[in-house]
Amino acid sequence: MTRTLSKSVGITATGQFYPERIVNNQELALLVDTSDEWIISRTGIRERRWVEPGVGSSDLGVEALNMALNNRGIGADDLDAIIACTVTPDMLFPCTAALIQTKVGASKAFGFDLNAACSSFIFGLSTAASLVASGAYKRVAVVGCDVMTSIADKKDRNTLVLFGDGAGAVIVEEVEAGYGILDFEQRIDGRGAPYLYMPAGGSLKPATAETVAANQHCIHQNGKEVYKNAVRDMAEISRLMLDRNAIDPKDLKLFVPHQANNRIMEAAAKRLELPLDRMATNIELFANTTSATLPTALHQSLGAGKVQKGDYVVLAAFGAGFTWGGMLMKWAY
Ligand SMILES: CC(C)(COP(=O)(O)OP(=O)(O)OC[C@H]1O[C@@H](n2cnc3c(N)ncnc32)[C@H](O)[C@@H]1OP(=O)(O)O)[C@@H](O)C(=O)NCCC(=O)NCCS
Repeated sequence: MTRTLSKSVGITATGQFYPERIVNNQELALLVDTSDEWIISRTGIRERRWVEPGVGSSDLGVEALNMALNNRGIGADDLDAIIACTVTPDMLFPCTAALIQTKVGASKAFGFDLNAACSSFIFGLSTAASLVASGAYKRVAVVGCDVMTSIADKKDRNTLVLFGDGAGAVIVEEVEAGYGILDFEQRIDGRGAPYLYMPAGGSLKPATAETVAANQHCIHQNGKEVYKNAVRDMAEISRLMLDRNAIDPKDLKLFVPHQANNRIMEAAAKRLELPLDRMATNIELFANTTSATLPTALHQSLGAGKVQKGDYVVLAAFGAGFTWGGMLMKWAY
């Protein structure tokens, strides 16, 4: 059974933003015991962007959203809602969506944050599409923005090298009949929680001098468990999208996987029997930007002319929770 929206709804514009500061692998090797060779061979990452102190996820999100609005040729006042997808909100509250709303001047919009770790954007996109398909809202912005350096342990080589800061945004609206989001599937399984999490800073373990000293406000990860599940689940959910819509993998124009590790992405593409030139990738220059990987990879693929109206595009994500999801689109513009 496909998950069909009651209207044709799709992405009508994209935007992105990265901070200026480039941090390459050699620079990280000054902070932790690692090497350019190890990072490239195990992850495919060459460099990433880091914010300067005092820059929050909302600041990146605002820039990405402004670009998407410009590309669509509309103003912030034309937005009915803003969904901010992030695991690194500026503050626990108010929500980052509120901060973005004020900074862009979206005076008529409501909004909220959505956190499903690296699956946040795909869950946010389906939520936005459902809001539009309901008829209650016309234009919803989905902003994936993360400052991963705010929760990175600068002494942990296992995680520090993997992440970067950035933002991507899309505008979601009703589109021409037969185009846009054709199907999606989303999953959550809390048995994965111990493998990727931030132990302190929430209600269970509020911040104390001890939790800070123990680096419990940073990413903790069992990389091998995450790796194994990410390959299997992203491949399976993408295959499900193709199979139940009777689309041959060779007719898929673009596969946009969550950019967690190039080996994970390539293994997933291989299981789909897709040539690698059909896979969107930006991990080499930007690393894993969590909620921003999908919208930025999509934005860059569009900029490179890799997708035309009517092309089939599949998004796939996997993240802490565990959470994962897939979405099939027939490109609408
Ligand atoms: C983290 C990851 C890159 C490690 O790659 P891997 O192939 O599993 O690594 P291996 O098991 O071969 O090697 C682990 C060893 O490398 C070491 N290592 C880890 N990070 C390192 C680094 N940056 N530089 C050098 N050595 C490193 C480990 O300490 C370990 O050493 P040990 O065996 O002496 O304990 C990989 O597991 C991964 O990408 N997992 C998924 C992570 C992810 O995507 N997270 C976000 C999901 S949304």
